[in-house]
Amino acid sequence: MTVHESVLDAIGETPLFRLTQLGRGIVTPLYAKAEFLNIGGSVKDRAALSMVLQAERDGLLRPGGTIVEATSGNTGIGLAIIGRQRGYRVIVGVSDRSAREKVDILRAYGAEVVLAPTRFAKQHPDHLFNVVRRLVDEIPGAWLANQYDNPANPAAHLRTTGPEIWRQTGGRVTHFVAGVGTGGTISGTGEFLRGASGGTVTVVGADPETSVYSGGDGSAYYVESIGHFLHPDTAEDVWPQSYHRDVVDRFERIPDRESLLTARRLASEEGLLAGPSSGAAAAAALRVARTLGPDDLVVVLLPDSGRSYLSTVFSDDWLRRWGFLEDPDGAEPTVRQLLDRSPGWADRLVTVSSRASAGAAVDGLPGSVVAVAVVLARAERRHGLSATEILGWIEPAALGAAIAAGRIRPDSPVSDHLVDPLPAVGGGQPVSAARAALGPRHAAAVVLRDGRAISLVTREELDAAIR
Ligand SMILES: Cc1ncc(COP(=O)(O)O)c(C=O)c1O
Repeated sequence: MTVHESVLDAIGETPLFRLTQLGRGIVTPLYAKAEFLNIGGSVKDRAALSMVLQAERDGLLRPGGTIVEATSGNTGIGLAIIGRQRGYRVIVGVSDRSAREKVDILRAYGAEVVLAPTRFAKQHPDHLFNVVRRLVDEIPGAWLANQYDNPANPAAHLRTTGPEIWRQTGGRVTHFVAGVGTGGTISGTGEFLRGASGGTVTVVGADPETSVYSGGDGSAYYVESIGHFLHPDTAEDVWPQSYHRDVVDRFERIPDRESLLTARRLASEEGLLAGPSSGAAAAAALRVARTLGPDDLVVVLLPDSGRSYLSTVFSDDWLRRWGFLEDPDGAEPTVRQLLDRSPGWADRLVTVSSRASAGAAVDGLPGSVVAVAVVLARAERRHGLSATEILGWIEPAALGAAIAAGRIRPDSPVSDHLVDPLPAVGGGQPVSAARAALGPRHAAAVVLRDGRAISLVTREELDAAIR
């Protein structure tokens, strides 16, 4: 039995589990490295420990000091545990889109949490990174961990994750699959395995389909913590220095739906309750393993636990509302089936850039347009409009009338005139569920498929379908 003198000793040395169910019919052995079994519940404990110890050695972190970081959660959890154990104050800046459970966990471990909105581009003073940098300047003895550019992040995996996988597989591993967030995991682990195998191990990145790492358009996606999102207002797209591009041989590009549903299969079929980035990695590993033979061996890294996503990925209701799950065989038609009865439904969704003026936004619109989505940028995204990139809505009829009456200046920014956000319904939801989501006030709802806005459905249409 293992006895630890400190929780810090329970970081690393995680087990591999063979994926027997997901890998059914595949001749290549497929093993998952269960990083959610680290003391803080994720792979990021390794990077956090490595960064703190290195900062102490470098004299950047001294007794009484403060650890500051901007993170979607897991690195913050690792830093909170390690930082508090070593006597530091810990402040974590988190985007307001992060799972609520992650924020609660940070506070439970004794971190102070600062929430910052996601709608700003990197150069904006209220972007999360700039908020956090200001804190470091203001607090004496503060040290910014900066996992994105800190060499101690990939070094953690070069020193621990890679050697563990090599030992655990007896040197038989031929393919390593992982998601890329900061890039620390894939760069350090991949570099070690490549070196240990004499260059024969293939390193495969699992990337959300729209992430720019693998050539996507950079629009928002629903798998937290991996990939690279590009805010449309970004002046210069900088990639993390923790990501060493030359280590990744190729990418598998995984649509959100495949990632989310694979995470659910890991839990229900393999007994491994892991998060959506694990779903993306496992989906990529399955694709890789299907092309290989019995002498190959695939290891996929599962970064964190599914417990942080019970109200999202593991909630049927959430998946339905965002259009990731369908009920096509119910007694009632679905919203999508209802739309299919109206030719031209795909043209109902009209968008305007948040940078447009009120006058330009309503100019020349047909009277049939009940609501217009105000979006981050005018540029069309190749993968459609992610619902998270809709800043708000305007009602062109009311706005046009207000301009005509002189109550609103036509050159005022359109984003000053947003109305109550339209409710969102999944295309696969039955019409009565969509009608309930509409409530008493709204005339229409935005229809989502795979988290992307595809059309609008009106109250009249829904009422007529239910009657
Ligand atoms: C859940 C989860 N998955 C994947 C990653 C990506 O790992 P890395 O930053 O090492 O690329 C992270 C990093 O924060 C994470 O928290």
